[in-house]
Amino acid sequence: MARVASTMILLKKNNMEYQKLVKQHYKEEAEKNTISLTSTMADVNTRRLEIEHLASYLKSGKKCLEIGCGNGASSIEISKKIKVDLLATDFSTDMIAMAKKQSIKGIKGKIKFQEQDVLTLNHKKEFDFIFTERCIINLLNWNDQKKALENMALALKANGKLIILEAFNDGLEELNKCREELGLDAVGPAYHNFYLDKEPVINHLKDQGLKFVEENNFLSSYFFGSRALYPAIAKANKKEIKYNSAFVNFFAMIPSMGNYSQLKILVFKKSAK
Ligand SMILES: C[S@@+](CC[C@H](N)C(=O)[O-])C[C@H]1O[C@@H](n2cnc3c(N)ncnc32)[C@H](O)[C@@H]1O
Repeated sequence: MARVASTMILLKKNNMEYQKLVKQHYKEEAEKNTISLTSTMADVNTRRLEIEHLASYLKSGKKCLEIGCGNGASSIEISKKIKVDLLATDFSTDMIAMAKKQSIKGIKGKIKFQEQDVLTLNHKKEFDFIFTERCIINLLNWNDQKKALENMALALKANGKLIILEAFNDGLEELNKCREELGLDAVGPAYHNFYLDKEPVINHLKDQGLKFVEENNFLSSYFFGSRALYPAIAKANKKEIKYNSAFVNFFAMIPSMGNYSQLKILVFKKSAK
């Protein structure tokens, strides 16, 4: 893994080459996780809160596009909550193959899974809502991330909304400050991720005609509890740190405060023209 990590760092600036390694990573994820909701997210509270918050932005009867849907588990859960016409896309052949095997029983509207690289997305003014769930961070340089944002902006209809659930450096820094005070090492992006900076994203989308509407730090309290407090208490008591502990469940039930999670939602609205 160390060798792969250093190779990834070398490739981060090297345009499309890194995509082969990212695809390989998600091929292995697809093989491991079959059709479960824990594919690419072992933390069930995070997954549940992601689904609830993403669904809350969508409107019934609207045409939606999902970028980087993985095995489609979230796409289906969202479609059970709200009646939308959803095109769910991912660049991984293996993830899309998994998605197509999922049962869509109980969905309220329509769903179609399609293999599609966001960097070659070519829809023009077609969708009322476009959303991501931890996808753009897999593009390992800012140029590719900018291109992805541009392609999504083009695919939105006038007045359409872009909802990006991604990892941002500002939340990570706040979380790491808490961890440091509690005697824990800093955490950082996985080798196949490149976190976003908020201001450049907001400015770049403004250049594409999208106005910044809202920042939703829905995971802040939960990450404060599960990624700082819990590991510190577990470490002090020489206990193993595990996902989905009874202790962390409490923090998934309380209102979210502060900016202690790298994962957050930013919402943008396309201008009327
Ligand atoms: C962290 S996973 C999240 C998957 C899904 N949204 C979920 O929450 O389970 C990131 C996904 O982004 C996809 N991805 C990475 N780069 C992509 C690209 N250039 N175009 C489209 N999808 C991409 C990966 O194949 C992977 O399925």
